Amino acid sequence: MMIEINRVGVIGAGQMGTGIAQACATAGFAVRLNDRDGKRIDAAVSNIDTTLAKLVSKGKLAQTASHEARERIVPAPSFADLADCDLVIEAATEHEATKRQIFSTLCPSLRPDALVATNTSSISITRLAAATDRPERSIGVHFMNPVPVMQLVELIRGIATGEETYEAARMFVAKLGKTSTMSEDFPAFIVNRVLLPMINEAIYTLYEGVGSVTSIDNAMKLGANHPMGPLELADFIGLDTCLSIMQVLHEGLADSKYRPCPLLVKYVEAGWLGRKAKRGFYDYR
Ligand code: CAA
Repeated sequence: MMIEINRVGVIGAGQMGTGIAQACATAGFAVRLNDRDGKRIDAAVSNIDTTLAKLVSKGKLAQTASHEARERIVPAPSFADLADCDLVIEAATEHEATKRQIFSTLCPSLRPDALVATNTSSISITRLAAATDRPERSIGVHFMNPVPVMQLVELIRGIATGEETYEAARMFVAKLGKTSTMSEDFPAFIVNRVLLPMINEAIYTLYEGVGSVTSIDNAMKLGANHPMGPLELADFIGLDTCLSIMQVLHEGLADSKYRPCPLLVKYVEAGWLGRKAKRGFYDYR
């Protein structure tokens, strides 16, 4: 039986959750936006208002479409508010215990046939699915940042993910106007297995004094046609997220080539987490 997705719950109103909510609403899905902190839901909705207004002023979105998209987003301060969702996407902090805790407390509030997805960028889908009451209806749906702009969504199947669940997720991504790739459940999947070691190597290049921040970024922007340099991109992703992905690769694949650069560790310890903390490899203050 085909699973139809109309109402989407999003857990976590940070950078990724906000982008996912916006992308779903503009594609016509009803959205329930949840966060344990109600103020973050309000901030996310106001960010979406600003972005939609910009798109309208640039002529990229009609005023009526913007209004309709905005009307589709409903704040959902408690998990009980997600009871009518067909799909719930968890986009909380990249921390395994937090995500497991969310799934185990969330599931009793959901319809038995609802799908659950995680936007994790590296953690095992099989392990996270084991914290739900429905591993066969669980899947990895990994969006890229900034969500409304980036074309790709990685789909990751855990060991128990059912074929119907995968098909429903694939259709959902297509309805968002995005393209999906399929990846098996290995640490950091495809994009971050390739991208993060490159970023980590750029940090080693800085650490070893091979080049300055701007030299490294300009070299990769102008020499490899990357839209952002690796250090600028690390700040954009968040240095805490970069470190946690490198730790998952290092522990999961047990290979020293994935050792997080000590400079990355030091920056995270200092609270220099990149753009969101207004300080990382660049100063945003
Ligand atoms: N909603 C809708 N549209 C948006 C938007 C949003 N939130 N944010 C930006 N845009 C649109 C802008 O309107 C703009 O459109 P036009 O060009 O038509 O005017 C377009 O996106 C580009 O935005 P900007 O002009 O502000 O900036 P830019 O040209 O410098 O591009 C960028 C910004 C798209 C982020 C570009 O620098 C880029 O592609 N960077 C690399 C991003 C990347 O690699 N992301 C993946 C990170 S890894 C990841 O996400 C996985 C993980 O798990 C860590």
